Amino acid sequence: MSQEQWTAVDDYFAQHLIPPDPVLDAALQAAQAAELPEIQVSLNQGQMLAVLVKLVNARRILEIGTLGGYSTLWMARAMPADGHIITLEYEPKHAEVARANFAQAGVADQIEIRVGKALDTLPQLEAEGAGPFDLVFIDADKPNNTPYFEWALKLTRRGSLIITDNVVRQGAILDPDHADERVQGVQRFFERIAHEPRVSSTALQTVGSKGWDGLVLSVVNGDQA
Ligand code: SAH
Ligand code: DHB
Ligand code: MG
Repeated sequence: MSQEQWTAVDDYFAQHLIPPDPVLDAALQAAQAAELPEIQVSLNQGQMLAVLVKLVNARRILEIGTLGGYSTLWMARAMPADGHIITLEYEPKHAEVARANFAQAGVADQIEIRVGKALDTLPQLEAEGAGPFDLVFIDADKPNNTPYFEWALKLTRRGSLIITDNVVRQGAILDPDHADERVQGVQRFFERIAHEPRVSSTALQTVGSKGWDGLVLSVVNGDQA
């Protein structure tokens, strides 16, 4: 199987499953125009986030890693009108593009961007008594996946969903000696969640327009499985 075929199947899915959405298209174009890295979720993955938001009835969402706000917008457009998203981003330039995209989409009131290292802004959230969140999307710097997961556990409740992106990395996670610290971060994350009784987790491998990757879905069990 080739990348062209994966992309063609992704396009087929999109044509059949995803209504055209000029607002989301505009957000992507704005991110491109600002020369942000093109590593946002794909169209189908965005729709998957939307389906998951609806499934768990998420009204309070925490995202770690905003980029231009594309995944944020997918989740925002799937939640109810009284829903709220807090999204954490390190790069001021990314946050600026995201802020403009949220305003353009008419959802600026529902989304709060916290600029800074997530490992600094997460303790602030806790100190403010934020949460519990119904859904957490972990999609920032991969070496910190494990601490982000610990924070997600602190800031959720029984029944919450924690989604961790990019856990396959073209199969690189199978190499125990891989030099890429992002791969090592994902490997530490798997070691951390292995046998963690507070969550039940499954991983989904995906191929598509973004190559071969995947995500982990963890549902919070509460203190006991
Ligand atoms: N969720 C986005 C993609 C995020 S890409 C989408 O799918 O549309 C990862 C983002 O995490 C980048 O914007 C990067 O700047 C940000 N990031 C990297 N290190 C970070 C850190 N320590 N704290 C918060 N954000 C960080
Ligand atoms: C990378 C990060 C992502 O969040 C993603 O979805 C794809 C790639 C990266 O850092 O390479
Ligand atoms: Mg990602």
